[in-house]
Amino acid sequence: MDGRIKLLLLSLAIAVAVASSEESGETKPRWMRRGRQMFTRLTSYVPRNRPRYQLCEVDGTMGACMKDSVCRRERGLFAGYCGGDNEVCCVVDKSCDGSTRSHSSYFRNPNFPKNDTEERMCPLTVEVGRDVCAVRLNFEKFELSPFTEGVCIGDHLTILGTKEGSTTPICGNMTGWTTTFAVKKNSDVVLAMVLQGRPAHTFSIRVTQIASHQQ
Ligand SMILES: *[C@@H]1O[C@H](CO)[C@@H](O)[C@H](O)[C@H]1NC(C)=O
Ligand SMILES: *[C@@H]1O[C@H](CO)[C@@H](O)[C@H](O)[C@H]1NC(C)=O
Repeated sequence: MDGRIKLLLLSLAIAVAVASSEESGETKPRWMRRGRQMFTRLTSYVPRNRPRYQLCEVDGTMGACMKDSVCRRERGLFAGYCGGDNEVCCVVDKSCDGSTRSHSSYFRNPNFPKNDTEERMCPLTVEVGRDVCAVRLNFEKFELSPFTEGVCIGDHLTILGTKEGSTTPICGNMTGWTTTFAVKKNSDVVLAMVLQGRPAHTFSIRVTQIASHQQ
């Protein structure tokens, strides 16, 4: 991880801690106030001439800071303001056959948080931005059919189009796991789920595009 991202994450952690210790008498919902406060602080850490891939957090859900029009094009959910430059905190929630350019999004089974039992292919295309060098996946929930003798013979997730090509298939219960892989800028990466329907599957993967420090 590059130093700037670490700094960003650190400042995010600090901002959350500061924001949650501040309670004022405003009438706005708590999460809205918190989103705004956080972002006033976070933006000050990013030099103006850097590409901006800022994240925001609302009650444990990660969003991406972007223009309102871009959020609407992504069919994202408005979750507050990021401060500066009129950017909104946009929560992008995608499922099978989806496509996203957002630098932060969720890839979930259609019925999430419930499980699904349909047999199908379920790909998500992630359009990698021009300043992006890596993609991180946080498996917040990942319950697919299990390994058999160390091999995924039923459901599996394969990541296509990374810098190293395709990954080995992932299956089973990988809830809580995190992985980061290098990508080529301006490329398409596909999270390709093959789902056999039985047993039921449930997944929610947070997908984050990570900007490189070189421009
Ligand atoms: C999957 O793993 C998570 C975390 O280890 C655990 O909490 C959960 O109960 C597991 N789910 C199943 C169906 O075993
Ligand atoms: C899937 O959901 C159904 C209905 O909510 C539930 O009865 C079942 O136990 C779930 N299956 C798994 C594997 O979690």
